[in-house]
Amino acid sequence: MTLAFRDQAAIWHPLTQHQITPPPLPIMRGEGAYLIDQLGNRYLDLVSSWWVTIHGHAQPDIAKAIYEQALKIEQVIFAGFTHEPAVRLAEELLTLLPAHFNKIYYSDNGSTAVEVALKMAYQYWRNQGKRRRSRFIAFKQGYHGDTFGAMAVSKESFYFKQFSDLLFAVDLFDYPATWLGDTQVEEKEYIIIKKLKSHLNKHSEETAALIIEPLIQAAGGMNMCRPEFLQQLIAVVKSYDVLIIYDEIMTGFYRTGEMFACDKSHTAPDIICLSKGLTGGFLPLSVTVCTEAIYQAFLGSDYTKALGHSHSYTANPLGCAAALASLKLLQRSETRSQLKLIERIHLEELFSTRENLNVEKIRYHGTVAAFDLVLSAEYGSQASVNLRERFLKHGLIIRPLGNIVYLLPPYCISESDLRRAYHLIRKEMKGITT
Ligand SMILES: Cc1ncc(COP(=O)(O)O)c(C=O)c1O
Repeated sequence: MTLAFRDQAAIWHPLTQHQITPPPLPIMRGEGAYLIDQLGNRYLDLVSSWWVTIHGHAQPDIAKAIYEQALKIEQVIFAGFTHEPAVRLAEELLTLLPAHFNKIYYSDNGSTAVEVALKMAYQYWRNQGKRRRSRFIAFKQGYHGDTFGAMAVSKESFYFKQFSDLLFAVDLFDYPATWLGDTQVEEKEYIIIKKLKSHLNKHSEETAALIIEPLIQAAGGMNMCRPEFLQQLIAVVKSYDVLIIYDEIMTGFYRTGEMFACDKSHTAPDIICLSKGLTGGFLPLSVTVCTEAIYQAFLGSDYTKALGHSHSYTANPLGCAAALASLKLLQRSETRSQLKLIERIHLEELFSTRENLNVEKIRYHGTVAAFDLVLSAEYGSQASVNLRERFLKHGLIIRPLGNIVYLLPPYCISESDLRRAYHLIRKEMKGITT
């Protein structure tokens, strides 16, 4: 029996309509930017396996760090106990993050990092007797994860419309998505900021926090905004004493060209959520990072003021060891030059892609490039599944978000592989009719 057949008999896959999706592709191993199947066919992983594999697959330094850690201690209860990898990772992250951040709260994936951030913001006010501050502001098309709090602040997401009746109330604003040659961007930003001010004039005393994916709204369509927008946004929101949460789960660890989107935009949120690239894609781990002022608001003489949140695998030592090895790789000069190379190739190749009549809204930030295909293909529809299969035929792993094609490669990708991918994408797109 083939692995794909055995898989279908036993497994229910995420975000998959099994009735219209071909059987999954069994992967036997990975090597740098490639995934390799049972027959030895090689597939260029242009989505970094759901945006996590920043250094490429089976990276030996990270693999070795996990192995060595596993021989010492694999898991420790994290209430009342601690361990070296967790402490060292927290210290290193705090030196890399803007100086006003002071405390690291561990959890184990992107959604839980967001849950922690929302709970932190909500209880921060509650602990100070400001119980009315219970609402959140978020952005249309935002995606912050699949747990209930994260779904609530991703309210309009097409991934989980079925649950909308169960989600708490959130005030949603437009995200000022922009692209190369967009002449309306300043006007869009102006209107959003104006609406936000008017909302805060009435509701700031009921608002706990605003959450945003800075620079790139990822799963909602790789929508990109300008650093200038974030600067205006932060200034306004801070002036109303509302907390700001940056969901940097996808944008963290150089995805946008700088270590964090807050660095690239020169903005300072109160809380940051990080995951995905944190362990270089080896193990699930996440952190929610906050300021000393937030941490202090949770201190008291009994448990009632403490943050009521935990996971069995909080700060798993293997995950922390992987993250420490990944941070080391990020500091290498080769990684830095790769980041510059990828950004330059994106810019040059997107320029050529612009001539294709099927393409619009070309955009990029650092190592992430995206454009819209002028055709109707909703997320998860047969048309979007077909699109994915078309690219796979050429050995390219690209998972369009509906009609949105994006490239988010591992940083180790070679120039020739990335240019070849663009060449094949352009060739394939010529055959796609609107
Ligand atoms: C910006 C953002 N936030 C949160 C999440 C949820 O992360 P996870 O899938 O690890 O729960 C994702 C996942 O794609 C994401 O892109």
